[in-house]
This record gives sequence, C-alpha cells and structure tokens, in this order.
Amino acid sequence: MQIITIASGKGGSCKTTTVLSFAAFLSKRKTKVLVIDTDPQGSLSWISDRASPKFDVAHETDQNVISKLRKIGGYDYILCDTPPGLDNETLSVALKLSDFAVLPSPPSPLDIRELTKTIGQVVVPSGTTYRVLLSRVDSRRINEALEIQSQLMDKDIPVFNAVVRYLVAHERAIVEGKLITEYKGPGGKEAANDYRKVVDELIRELKG
Ligand SMILES: Nc1ncnc2c1ncn2[C@@H]1O[C@H](COP(=O)(O)OP(=O)(O)OP(=O)(O)O)[C@@H](O)[C@H]1O
Ligand SMILES: [Mg+2]
Repeated sequence: MQIITIASGKGGSCKTTTVLSFAAFLSKRKTKVLVIDTDPQGSLSWISDRASPKFDVAHETDQNVISKLRKIGGYDYILCDTPPGLDNETLSVALKLSDFAVLPSPPSPLDIRELTKTIGQVVVPSGTTYRVLLSRVDSRRINEALEIQSQLMDKDIPVFNAVVRYLVAHERAIVEGKLITEYKGPGGKEAANDYRKVVDELIRELKG
C-alpha cells in the first residue's frame, strides 16, 4: 500500500482537484483506492458525494486517527487531501506517514514563492519524497511554465514533466457533479488527459 499526500502552503492551488483526478485514474487500474479528506472545509467530500466515485472516501480531521492510516488494510493507494496553510499539525502528521507527497502549484511568482517556503519549512523536514506539479497553467504561456520547471529543478526541487493546464472543464465538471474522467463537456478529454499523464509519471516514480 502506498500513501500519497497532496499538499501546498497556499489555498486554491488545485489540491482537491488533483486528489480526485488521481483517485479517478488510479481506481480505473483495478486498484483499490481510499481518499482521506483531512480538510475541515470538506470540499472533497462534498464533490465526491455527488459524483458517486469508484473509490472510497472518508472525511477525517482527527490527527490521532490520521496517524494510524498505515494500519488500514485492503487498499493499494491511500490519497490524502490536506487543508491550505503550513501551520497545521494534520499536514505534518500526514506527510510523515506518507510514501510520497505531491505539491500542486500554479506557476505564478507568488505561488512559487509560497511553494518553496512549504518545501523548506514542512516537506523537507518531514523526510518524505515529493514532486511539484505545475497546475492551472495558461496554455498560451506553456514556455514560461517549462522555464519555471527547469528553475525549480536547478534548485534540486523535483517537478513532474507533465503539467496541468488551466481548463474550465475542471470547474464545469464540479458543477455537473462529475469527476474529470466522467465529464463529457467541452475540454473534458484534454483536462482528463493532462491528469492521465501525471498519474502515469507518478506510477513510474513510485515503482522506481
Ligand atoms: N486545471 C484547472 N483548470 C481550471 N480550474 C481549475 C483547475 N484545477 C482546479 N481548478 C479550479 O480551481 C479552484 C481551486 O481548486 P481546488 O479546490 O482543487 O484547490 P485547493 O488547493 O484544494 O483549494 P483549497 O486550498 O481551498 O482547499 C476550483 O474552483 C477548481 O475547480
Ligand atoms: Mg481543497
């Protein structure tokens, strides 16, 4: 079983969207997936309640319960969504018990500044292997995102090669109560495909 935590210092950096999209793709591969929503706001639980997913979801904010996640049996993957902000114990508890952390971040200067702070203050001290995922990338400015990827890698910060583009399909899917893999509206295929590439890369990394 692999436990993966999705975290970021800043709010609205696509954590919940990333967890749900990862779970949607991982559960298509005949693997048993459990998603833990550790955010008191419970947005992930609210979205997944409406989407009737093929994976299990639990809303759990109690650190004592979260710290015992490893004892849960019967799953190939446990994915943890976390609340924004660095100063929460839940995040440290989840990171410490995880095999891997994914840090989604839009490529704007302020987001990247907050991201590097999160890495230095919380992720590196936890000792957990991690990768940054550039998210909500403007398709017209892909080159700038690639430039940011290489700047981060120059600082020894690992980054997914695949990026997640800004596509309104992600928001529309939520409005329709659907996961991105089920959304049939405009841009749905492209939006799902971005996450498919990230999940392929994640699986390769976890096996490696
Ligand atoms: N690739 C994308 N393209 C366009 N919109 C997106 C994309 N990913 C996420 N969004 C939208 O951006 C908003 C924030 O995303 P999300 O809730 O996943 O972020 P979060 O990091 O979980 O936020 P919070 O810190 O508040 O928990 C949502 O409205 C979501 O639908
Ligand atoms: Mg969230």
